[in-house]
Amino acid sequence: MNKPKVFVTRPVPDRGLDVIKNFCDADVWTDELPPSREALLERVRGVEGILSLLTDRIDGEVMDAAGPQLKVVSNQAVGFDNIDVAAATQRGIPVGNTPDVLTDATADFAFALMMAAGRRIVEGERYVRAGKWKTWSPSLLLGVDFKGATLGLVGFGRIGKAMARRAAGFDMRVIYYDPLETKPPADVKATHVDMETLLEDSDFISLHTPLTADTRRLIDAAALAKMKPTAVLVNTSRGPVVDLDALYEALKVKRIFAAALDVTEPEPLPMDHPLLTLENALIVPHIASASKTTRDKMSWMAAQNLIAGLKGEHLPNCVNPQVYK
Ligand code: DGY
Repeated sequence: MNKPKVFVTRPVPDRGLDVIKNFCDADVWTDELPPSREALLERVRGVEGILSLLTDRIDGEVMDAAGPQLKVVSNQAVGFDNIDVAAATQRGIPVGNTPDVLTDATADFAFALMMAAGRRIVEGERYVRAGKWKTWSPSLLLGVDFKGATLGLVGFGRIGKAMARRAAGFDMRVIYYDPLETKPPADVKATHVDMETLLEDSDFISLHTPLTADTRRLIDAAALAKMKPTAVLVNTSRGPVVDLDALYEALKVKRIFAAALDVTEPEPLPMDHPLLTLENALIVPHIASASKTTRDKMSWMAAQNLIAGLKGEHLPNCVNPQVYK
């Protein structure tokens, strides 16, 4: 029996890739960089399944280039703003994602960023390497405190709640804004507030919202102007949620204390971006979920979604279940 043809847009961890190769005739893009648009349109031709990453824009054009036999798009990420889900639904194609398995790794990392920016850890490391460490000094690289501070979470889904649980261990007060989740679960101590209160009252603000039309540039100049001058902003959600020009202006004049970004717009951030000249901007390359175990689980889960779709079964994690109605 012929195996179903699939296109895998980068070598995902073996835990998932081995499963895919067993079941499918897999064409794997092996370059370090994602396929160009032209290459993507070319390589999907005739496939029944696509395993994509957040770097691949999978829209109606790609689905049509694949052809009417395309049965499934499986995205190895919890976020799926790179996929035109409406276009997939219109064509009856289920789209899979990989929630849950990355919640703790991402929350751990967001917390680490919050501490690193608040306590100036990366700046301190640069200081040592630059040979500037001459003596212990009473006011060298002073940061902000965590105990008793208010953590404001924008988005209170799985990762937002995991942040709230971690914050309890640091004796922080947690407030959150989420239009869809106004009551916290019994085991999480947090208070729902409006966005304005969150901006004004938080000592730390951590973003955990999907990218939608409502959240694009949610943190703009007006939002930054409402924050405390001692506030630390952390973004592990999606780059376009923060207006980076406005953030640069705010950090430059110390309108807020610091920002730590795992995600930027664009990605990668160009080397001549002004944010990279600021000591109070900490920027890392979209690695919040990058633990070995987590990425293994994500690839396995993406493989399960892909294979279910190829078999015509319901995807274990489907973002557009309307296709089954
Ligand atoms: C996701 O899954 O959406 C993250 O951004 C990458 O792990």
